[in-house]
Amino acid sequence: MSDQNPPVPASPVDGRQAGIRLGALSSGRGSNLQAIIDACEVGKISAKIAVVVSDKSDALALERARRHRLMAVFLNPKEFPTREDYDERMVEILKQQAVDLVILAGYMRIVTPRLISAYPNRIMNIHPSLLPSFPGLRAPKQALEWGVKVSGCTVHFVNETVDQGPIIFQAAVPVFPEDTEASLSARILEQEHRILTQAIQYFAEGRLQVVGRRVIISPGKADDRSEMEKRDEDRRMEKLRGLVDDAAEKLAAEELSFDDARRLIEWTREQVLSLFPDKAETFDLIYKPRFYRILDEKLHRI
Ligand code: GRF
Repeated sequence: MSDQNPPVPASPVDGRQAGIRLGALSSGRGSNLQAIIDACEVGKISAKIAVVVSDKSDALALERARRHRLMAVFLNPKEFPTREDYDERMVEILKQQAVDLVILAGYMRIVTPRLISAYPNRIMNIHPSLLPSFPGLRAPKQALEWGVKVSGCTVHFVNETVDQGPIIFQAAVPVFPEDTEASLSARILEQEHRILTQAIQYFAEGRLQVVGRRVIISPGKADDRSEMEKRDEDRRMEKLRGLVDDAAEKLAAEELSFDDARRLIEWTREQVLSLFPDKAETFDLIYKPRFYRILDEKLHRI
């Protein structure tokens, strides 16, 4: 087997505490970005989003980044004569923010060697099919039209051929006879969020090494939880997100007295701690300040 790719250097940090710096590139809805934000916030992955860049000014991904007080940059392709110039600027931004790992999270532009050579084996992409089947656009639609019975998603390192870089993780989902492009995409998307955040965590732990086309995964600390316990954690995490989003929405939209707002925040805190007793610090350092910022902004709008 040829060994064209240099091995992925050990990641700059070891373990969960310190965390790597991520640059996320997204062109649209940003649900993968949101999954990464959530996982960072609750300490499920040891990473921090240093910057979110989009090639679309109205990308929901930018809005999501701003909501979480993350640096959000719209980089307008029209301002650059070539794709290489565009990527040159992108690299500057990423380097300025000391990004360790770049995530293409629904990024619809083809990246050039300018970006790839600046981050060799340090760019990950998530694709909604079991590559190498159905590369390119609208992969779930391609899968349905082909008539496959199983589809899924792939997270891979980016090399110079679109959707062909070394595969890190894949997840399979069934295709049902009554599936539409939308229903299949939704089923796949759930798995995308899971394997993308998992790949980031493995990178952060220095467990991924690229040898030729293969990504060698070294064992980490044994996770001796049962499948049921893992699923239970995912379910609690989902509930936590719902609680936090509901509270944020209510605080932003409803006419609440300050006391009611404070009660809502405290109630949310209790609920979150009943799901995750160890998340008091996360709540007090991340969610609470966000809730108060929402109140503050509302006050200033009046
Ligand atoms: C995802 O299906 C991803 O696999 C593909 O583009 C879609 C982006 O979705 N590359 P979102 O913006 O993350 O919600």
